[in-house]
Amino acid sequence: MTNTKITVTPGDGIGPEVTQQAVKVLHAVAQRFDMTLDIQEVPVGGTAYDLAGTPLPDETLQACKSADAVLLGAVGGPKWEALDYSVRPERALLGLRAELGLYANLRPAQIYGDLVGASTLKPEVVEGADIMVVRELTGGIYFGKPRGVAEENGERVGRNTLVYSESEIRRIAKIGFEIAQKRSKRLTSVDKANVLEATELWRDVVTEMSKDYPDVELNHMYVDNATMQLIRAPKQFDTIVTTNMFGDILSDGAAMMTGSIGMLPSASVGGSNGLYEPVHGSAPDIAGKDLANPLATILSLGMMFRYTFNQGDADTLIQNAVIKTLETYRTGDIMSEGKQQVGCQEMGDRVLENL
Ligand code: IPM
Ligand code: MG
Repeated sequence: MTNTKITVTPGDGIGPEVTQQAVKVLHAVAQRFDMTLDIQEVPVGGTAYDLAGTPLPDETLQACKSADAVLLGAVGGPKWEALDYSVRPERALLGLRAELGLYANLRPAQIYGDLVGASTLKPEVVEGADIMVVRELTGGIYFGKPRGVAEENGERVGRNTLVYSESEIRRIAKIGFEIAQKRSKRLTSVDKANVLEATELWRDVVTEMSKDYPDVELNHMYVDNATMQLIRAPKQFDTIVTTNMFGDILSDGAAMMTGSIGMLPSASVGGSNGLYEPVHGSAPDIAGKDLANPLATILSLGMMFRYTFNQGDADTLIQNAVIKTLETYRTGDIMSEGKQQVGCQEMGDRVLENL
């Protein structure tokens, strides 16, 4: 049997603590599913900058390229905020997405167990909500050219370009339709077609493609309205497909519907392998204090089993263990009365017990 090669990039802030817990779970699940692992750990983000002067050293990139899947913690922190844009920790994330061709970012937002009380929205509004945000990840305004800040007519001018080709829209929409087919067959495409031509094309292409998916009920929404609807009545959404920047914004919104961004996993796919990371950032204020919630990273591992290894059963196993664990144990971010508060490590151990 061949070894499954997994590259772990813990990164900055709470990244190392949360990935450590996920790796414990990874070993246990791999054993259960008869997988032999070859795990390599490499630096990324600010940590890599401190070691090598760049947030994405070539060895890190190569280790990620050659892996079957990558598990990433988080990047960034105040220590590196003053650095030049080109070497900021966040550049590593963008570089990895582009270099690995990970054009589709899947961000599920659902309420695990009885966490419904953790949301700032009314329980009846969020109870049972289950949304999958499919975000385009290697195009749009994040990557469009020209870009930059230049001196023009005696003042500084900042410029970014929103650009989408038909093929870029088509491939992400295909993922959106296919995911909707496996869920409750409702797809909302979010754009700003009333103002931005690039997203008018987005809407046209998605509409054309809907003919090939007669079983999926497609609707379109402008991003401002979608934001309002997400807070007003989140249960109307099932699968959302949208551009890079709108997906960035809407997925944070969807995350808070669940109460804690500490619970949300993500998968970046579309290339020859996949990258899995929690949606939360590096949370430098609580880093190294054993306070972080490792569940988003553990759930990201579940997504790795589902989307890269085609082991949906392993994902279900992990999700059930998380739900079981939440019945009794909570990290500080999701603590509620009657539950027992634990740290990052113990949370990892409890999930292991419940596997
Ligand atoms: C995310 C983050 C990143 C993004 C940043 C850190 C580059 O906000 O993954 O949502 O904007 O894509
Ligand atoms: Mg974001």
